[in-house]
Amino acid sequence: MTGSTDQVNALLPEKITKICCIGAGYVGGPTCTVLAQQCPDLVVTIVDVNPQRIAAWNSENLSELPVFEPGLSSIVGECRGRNLFFTTEIDRAIDEAQIVFVSVNTPTKTSGIGSGFAADLRYVEASTRRIASIASTPKIIVEKSTVPCRTAATMRAILEANSKPGISFQILSNPEFLSEGTAVQDLLNPDRVLIGSLATEQGNRAAELLSEVYERWVPKDRVLRTGLWSSELTKLKAANALLAQRISSINAISAICEATGANVDEVAHACGVDRRIGPHFLRASVGFGGSCFQKDILNLVYLSGSLNLPEVAEYWRQVIVMNEFSKARFAKKVVQTLFNTVTAKRLALLGFAFKKDTGDTRESPAITLCRHFRQEGAHIAIYDPKVPHSQILMDLTEPGVADDRKNIEESITICSNIQEACRDAEAVVIATDWDEFCAIDWHDIYQIMRKPAVVFDGRRVVDPRQLREIGFRVHAVGIGPELQDNVWV
Ligand code: NAD
Ligand code: UGA
Repeated sequence: MTGSTDQVNALLPEKITKICCIGAGYVGGPTCTVLAQQCPDLVVTIVDVNPQRIAAWNSENLSELPVFEPGLSSIVGECRGRNLFFTTEIDRAIDEAQIVFVSVNTPTKTSGIGSGFAADLRYVEASTRRIASIASTPKIIVEKSTVPCRTAATMRAILEANSKPGISFQILSNPEFLSEGTAVQDLLNPDRVLIGSLATEQGNRAAELLSEVYERWVPKDRVLRTGLWSSELTKLKAANALLAQRISSINAISAICEATGANVDEVAHACGVDRRIGPHFLRASVGFGGSCFQKDILNLVYLSGSLNLPEVAEYWRQVIVMNEFSKARFAKKVVQTLFNTVTAKRLALLGFAFKKDTGDTRESPAITLCRHFRQEGAHIAIYDPKVPHSQILMDLTEPGVADDRKNIEESITICSNIQEACRDAEAVVIATDWDEFCAIDWHDIYQIMRKPAVVFDGRRVVDPRQLREIGFRVHAVGIGPELQDNVWV
């Protein structure tokens, strides 16, 4: 549709002064906090249906924010109450804003069509209905959540069917690429900001208005403009699938390294210096975790199946299969090394978060490891510097299993430091790459463990040779038996 500049502008907000973000989670919280810091003249209001979460964002004590990210609390402290607000007054914040970010969760469906694979869009739909029923002025609605391709069309249908007469909406896709643990740096200095819009005059103008907000701190050439569907598809699924595929690929190589005596770090480095491959995201591990990789790939598998592309679906499903294999292989190695039984043995599990510098445990490999060890009857002493004890207990409770909480309390001890977890343990299992674990005094730890003391490094944070010199037996992912005294064995 074409029209005069005046007609186009009449359908859009005149000036951006207020931004509302629906969803105060791992994305909405940090993203809009950084936005408020970089745009002190804009009022940014983050809303959520969860009053506890909002109360935690408003905590006097900045160490009690609901999301831990290095550098985040000081920015919240700087902006909160100035031009950054956290509230449950959703309707007011929506109506006052010209731009509304939708940053709600999009988990995997657990029942009905596509159960276990497709995205559950109920929260996106509920937010859209609320915007439609509340808005009394034109708005730009921004998809920040990771959503399946063409979700914007669903949102548009809901908005058109439910809005007040004469109120117009422009929908933009602006997916978020931050990684937990480095969110603040990723937001301050992003590789790219992607904005997808319809190729109409209003669509383009809306994208320009959003771009102008980002250009206050992001160089213009890093703001990429695409069509709506390309932007949606880039995030869900292409970018995350390609990233997760690299980890499963290097983890598949790591299994071969262990069997042959090669060293996966050397192989990854030698491959990564090829500029066509690149050095990032080639760290072998016990397996990837986090709220997005598995969910997004399952969604890609579902999409491919729906499009009658079974080979494509199978190709991407293997990334998940390899990840499950990596976790199970590591757990099996622990049991085999400890003389084929861990029953009643104390295992120190260092790290419970899915990666360092976050308290997030969603899909954490540590949870899978605990399930394996508990099935074998081990006693697990867990230490993580950031994950609350209550969260660990919740993650390990199997819903529907009678007396599970009691069993957990008998088979798990949650510890407040590394020494406490390792005391009298037969083995240390490193499940998260926290910096603190790179600086452990292993001489001390050796003294307080049972012998033979074994270290299983699922994150490549220890130097196996140094530990062997102390007396430990060591298994590190991707590191095979070494050549001894230059003898070929
Ligand atoms: P989250 O679960 O931490 O936060 C979502 C928040 O939305 C929750 O606090 C929930 O209460 C709130 N919410 C749900 N429905 C609501 C409604 N109708 N009104 C108001 N609030 C509502 O999720 P997250 O990790 O922030 O992820 C959000 C989206 O961003 C997902 O689509 C995810 O795939 C995507 N994403 C996540 C990351 C990440 O690192 N976590 C990175 C990039 C993209
Ligand atoms: C990932 C993407 O990196 C982000 O770009 C994206 O925005 C986000 O998903 C999302 O859509 O939610 P995140 O899951 O926060 O971010 O963290 P990553 O750094 O990607 O790590 C994911 C998992 O892979 C972690 O368990 C990590 O330890 C593991 N990993 C990562 C490896 O095992 N090896 C590597 O080389 C890199």
